[in-house]
Amino acid sequence: MRRIFSGIQPTGIPHLGNYLGAVRNWVTLQEGAECIYCVVDLHAITQPHDPKALAQATREMAAALIAAGIDPERSVLFHQSSVHAHVRLSWILECVARIGWLNRMTQFKDKAGKNRENVSCGLYTYPALMAADILAYRANAVPVGDDQRQHLELANDIAQKFNFDFCGEDPFFPVIEPVIFGPGARVMSLRDGSKKMSKSDTSEQSRISMTDDADAIALKIRRAKTDPEPLPSEPAGLEGRPEAANLVGIYAALADTDTAGVLRQFGGQGFGVFKPALSDLLVAKLSPIATETRRLLADPAALDALLRRGAEQARAIAEPIVDEAERLVGFLKL
Ligand code: TYM
Repeated sequence: MRRIFSGIQPTGIPHLGNYLGAVRNWVTLQEGAECIYCVVDLHAITQPHDPKALAQATREMAAALIAAGIDPERSVLFHQSSVHAHVRLSWILECVARIGWLNRMTQFKDKAGKNRENVSCGLYTYPALMAADILAYRANAVPVGDDQRQHLELANDIAQKFNFDFCGEDPFFPVIEPVIFGPGARVMSLRDGSKKMSKSDTSEQSRISMTDDADAIALKIRRAKTDPEPLPSEPAGLEGRPEAANLVGIYAALADTDTAGVLRQFGGQGFGVFKPALSDLLVAKLSPIATETRRLLADPAALDALLRRGAEQARAIAEPIVDEAERLVGFLKL
């Protein structure tokens, strides 16, 4: 049986990159597998954060996930700090992971920048916690955007070393399959086609939030950086045009088609035609999600009850697995 796990940081309302790269695929995958989805608040404190805002941001992310189609009756939905198995396993996996492996993580290098000596130890060991998130459920498939690929390769290295060091002939952790697909796997900034769309970008104009209204969406798309050429009629014509390629990719992901399909429709047209069509499609797809998110957030007690139940379900799966991992490492279990 395929067991799916994925996580998202509680950045409040997700942006279009989170949605197209990950959340939309999470919704689809619910059809044929056991799915476990986690709002990763432990990861959120690896960088400076506002303690007064974190709990509400966690609720907002949970509400947006449900509004986007994660069904808490069908999938396990919970927040990470409510299931202690993550931290217990994370420590063990930190002791399995090698410093040299962590040193290669490009996301750490990007996030730490020139400030390497001064970032938290948690930011450095973050990928070991991410491996623990997945392996505490012995999940074997992880749907993410393309930026998480390296972290999943590391999670596999850690799982294999754990198996080799502690499990003899009988591997305990499964191989993790990264599930990364579609034109939404790498959504770029609307202001700079070489940077990914990200919550940490200082420009609000660089991203679309899942609760942006029609006017905000239209304005951001109108201002999105492009070039003066009309759209080509073949995907090869997008080479060297990262901003145009990004907008076409967003359209393709939302319309459930591919780049070639979009270019068959819009090839030869200028952005004066394409941008309003893209805005209309974004509004049509996002506005029902925004309305539902607001409705769910109006009843925080109901939302908390859903998360509490999700945490119980998650604990029931993860606790026995992490107990066994501790036995394999050799802890005295009384
Ligand atoms: P996070 O919170 O940065 O992003 C959540 C998901 O959104 C995807 N994503 C994107 N996809 C396409 N284009 C973009 N511009 C874009 N920006 C973000 C991410 O790839 C991700 O799938 N470390 C993870 C969270 C995590 C996790 C895990 C994921 C913690 N434990 C275990 C999987 C399994 C992160 O910070 O994602």
